[in-house]
Amino acid sequence: MKLLLLLLAVIKSSGSIKIACDYDYTCTIEQLTTSQQLHHLATYSFGDAGMIKLIDSLVPPEAISSFQPIVNYLILERCPLETVRLWQMRIPVFSFDVLRNMEKLNGIELSYNRIERLQLSPNASCCQNLTLLDLSFNRLSTIDCALLSSMQALTVLQLSSNVIQELYGSLHLPNLTELDLSNNRIKSIDLCQWQIGSLKVLNVINNRIEHLFDCLRELQNLKTFQIAGNALTQLDFASFAQLRLVLLNFSRNRIEIVHNRNAVWPKTVCIKLNGNPVARNTTDLC
Ligand SMILES: *[C@@H]1O[C@H](CO)[C@@H](O)[C@H](O)[C@H]1NC(C)=O
Ligand SMILES: *[C@@H]1O[C@H](CO)[C@@H](O)[C@H](O)[C@H]1NC(C)=O
Ligand SMILES: *[C@@H]1O[C@H](CO)[C@@H](O)[C@H](O)[C@H]1NC(C)=O
Ligand SMILES: *[C@@H]1O[C@H](CO)[C@@H](O)[C@H](O)[C@H]1NC(C)=O
Ligand SMILES: *[C@@H]1O[C@H](CO)[C@@H](O)[C@H](O)[C@H]1NC(C)=O
Repeated sequence: MKLLLLLLAVIKSSGSIKIACDYDYTCTIEQLTTSQQLHHLATYSFGDAGMIKLIDSLVPPEAISSFQPIVNYLILERCPLETVRLWQMRIPVFSFDVLRNMEKLNGIELSYNRIERLQLSPNASCCQNLTLLDLSFNRLSTIDCALLSSMQALTVLQLSSNVIQELYGSLHLPNLTELDLSNNRIKSIDLCQWQIGSLKVLNVINNRIEHLFDCLRELQNLKTFQIAGNALTQLDFASFAQLRLVLLNFSRNRIEIVHNRNAVWPKTVCIKLNGNPVARNTTDLC
């Protein structure tokens, strides 16, 4: 039976925090600001909450080590969590070790933090059943593909709006269907090293890409390729001839030349070319 729990807690000496749990098995924790409050959190029962939200919490970097066991405690002792949302936590380093042993976890949303770096201990087993990882709106500048490749069940990976310049190593995620790298500083991706054969949606809008990636044609399931807002100067449609695409978005590049314009297309494909020099002579083929 679902119970409406509404707990208002005042913690001595460190201000107040609010914990509210609703009918959707969601507990919201607000105004968590000190490591002492984090320790106190462990004494609350969260009933049968399935999701815990920490909102507007300013946890100082040094509190991260105390934060970790408490998250585990809540999750392992009290909550069969399926989704974890940590917003506006202002944490510079996120360690996936906090999620160890959470077999049910299928989504983690870490957007709008200030994450600069990701960590996972070499032998830690984390996130075997994780299908969604959202790291958008953070401060990541490099991505260690090996770390992400340990999360083999991932289907959606959100890395938009960081400051990513480099993705090093190879990404091996057999079930990945959606990869969002938009609004970063990426110049190139070595797709030939990657194994992401299930990918359907690839979004690299607003980066610094000057040349189309080699090995695009190996993404046999690709339906949507968004590469608007980059620095492409020419295109060869032959790269896409073997694919069964639905949308190719090249708008706002610097494309002056298009080769193999007549490469065979399925009639349904939509090609956006607006905002390029070449568009003076061409209209969007949609
Ligand atoms: C998580 O994944 C393991 C295999 O890695 C599987 O045996 C287990 O049943 C899954 N747990 C849940 C809750 O889905
Ligand atoms: C990781 O596991 C291997 C063997 O499974 C072991 O030799 C190694 O010491 C472990 N490393 C760490 C950091 O625990
Ligand atoms: C990948 O997807 C397939 C088909 O849905 C599933 O059977 C398999 O368990 C998934 N792999 C992982 C590592 O979750
Ligand atoms: C193409 O990309 C632009 C961003 O430059 C975006 O505004 C537009 O909605 C995209 N078009 C489609 C059809 O997705
Ligand atoms: C547009 O087409 C005209 C004639 O077909 C050609 O002379 C001109 O170079 C073309 N311009 C661009 C930008 O492709």
